Amino acid sequence: MPPIFEITHKDICGRIGRLETRHGTIETPTIMPVVNPNIRTIKPSEMRKFGAQIIITNSYIIYRKPQLRERALSEGLHSLIGFDGPIMTDSGSFQLSVYGEVEVNNRQIVQFQQEIGSDIGVPLDIPTPPDVSWERAESELAITIEREKEALELKNDMLLAAPVQGSSFPELRERAGRELSGADFDLYPLGAVVPLMESYRYADLVDVIVASKKGLSPAAPVHLFGAGHPMMFALAVALGCDLFDSASYALYAKEGRYMTVRGTYHLDKLQYLPCSCPVCSSTDAEELIKSDNREELLARHNLYATFAEMREVKQAIKEGSLWELVEQRCRTHPRLLDGLRRALSYSEWIEQFQQAPRATFFYSGPESALRPEVVRFRKRLRNFRLDGRVLIRAKRLEIDEDFDHVLEFKAPFGAYPVELKETYPFNAEVADEPDHEALTVALQNTLALMELNPGTEFTFVYEKEHPLMTHMGQKAKLVNFQ
Ligand code: GUN
Ligand code: ZN
Repeated sequence: MPPIFEITHKDICGRIGRLETRHGTIETPTIMPVVNPNIRTIKPSEMRKFGAQIIITNSYIIYRKPQLRERALSEGLHSLIGFDGPIMTDSGSFQLSVYGEVEVNNRQIVQFQQEIGSDIGVPLDIPTPPDVSWERAESELAITIEREKEALELKNDMLLAAPVQGSSFPELRERAGRELSGADFDLYPLGAVVPLMESYRYADLVDVIVASKKGLSPAAPVHLFGAGHPMMFALAVALGCDLFDSASYALYAKEGRYMTVRGTYHLDKLQYLPCSCPVCSSTDAEELIKSDNREELLARHNLYATFAEMREVKQAIKEGSLWELVEQRCRTHPRLLDGLRRALSYSEWIEQFQQAPRATFFYSGPESALRPEVVRFRKRLRNFRLDGRVLIRAKRLEIDEDFDHVLEFKAPFGAYPVELKETYPFNAEVADEPDHEALTVALQNTLALMELNPGTEFTFVYEKEHPLMTHMGQKAKLVNFQ
């Protein structure tokens, strides 16, 4: 049997993939708009126009309401919802986490999803919130995994998702990922992350994603449950999330909120509409604020903005510029910047996946100095065997002396063989004036290189003063080129 999920392009840990379902193949990363079977601001049949390839709805809401249940059983889920592409169904776990109980058990809700013809079904996992005790997280995880394995015994041709839980304990997330990865599931949603996103705990979210991914197979498709704000897609995709779902476009619209990749505006505070989607190009801020139809128009704009960003992310993967996009997007909000910094603390882990050729390294701020390429270079310094007299210089300059090796100094890397000048990542586009962080990392790497080659005589032609230059003076002859 061909694989259900096939990865075709990669950048960082992000990928473009193809996921096969009974109602067609979808290209990931993508977002599944949440369709509420009771309330419809936007008709599911219109969803494709926005870019939706697959939608998600809640089977428990259908199950609980007799009219909906009967129709779903007799005419099928696709006809009930009015969408002929793939439909994923959630199980009622979210209601379980909000109301503490549901009137259905795991076996019943899994079978119901199969009977109504869902393309991807979800067992009744327990979404353990962050910050609970280890004991609670561990015992609820055990029940979740037991239910997921029970669902596997019922497996037919409906694809089966196995949510990864474990609260805010990376050890539990990783263990859950590893245990579930060994079984025959088709999709792995990372669960109970909504509370983290609602409180802007992006650094903790990064921990959850990375821990779960460490346990899961790199070939498995991963869904970030309940993530729908476009400003965080680049970061989550870069860490290996393939599917997103969101009710945000509608929930935000209800509260008069206008989504952009730079964050969310309250419509009443907008004087201009910074978007050219069909909604925004046919009205203006004043008219939209006064419109009787403003909730629906806002939901439409929010959905257009959401899909536009996903296309931007996919383009970045294809051209190998996802890091640059992540760094830009994470400047949207300081807490998202915390998320980026946490992601960079996993540079060594990320580095093992980052094999594909990339576009030119663009230095876009202090965080770039901690990117995996820089970490990798640092690790490889020990491969450079130097002897005799070595010149390290930032600019070409005439020196009437012979050297055995000439190294070029470039922040944030440090000193590297001049022959590699035109190759990745040393062909990086960097600022003429390196910032303090880039210079610090570059000087640290250069010092490390000198320490690895103690018998060598170094001459370092430098331009910018820095506290580390005193230390450098003990290892090399310094020439200030000003
Ligand atoms: N929707 C948002 N979070 C979750 C989760 O953890 N599990 C399920 N089943 N649905 C969700
Ligand atoms: Zn718009």
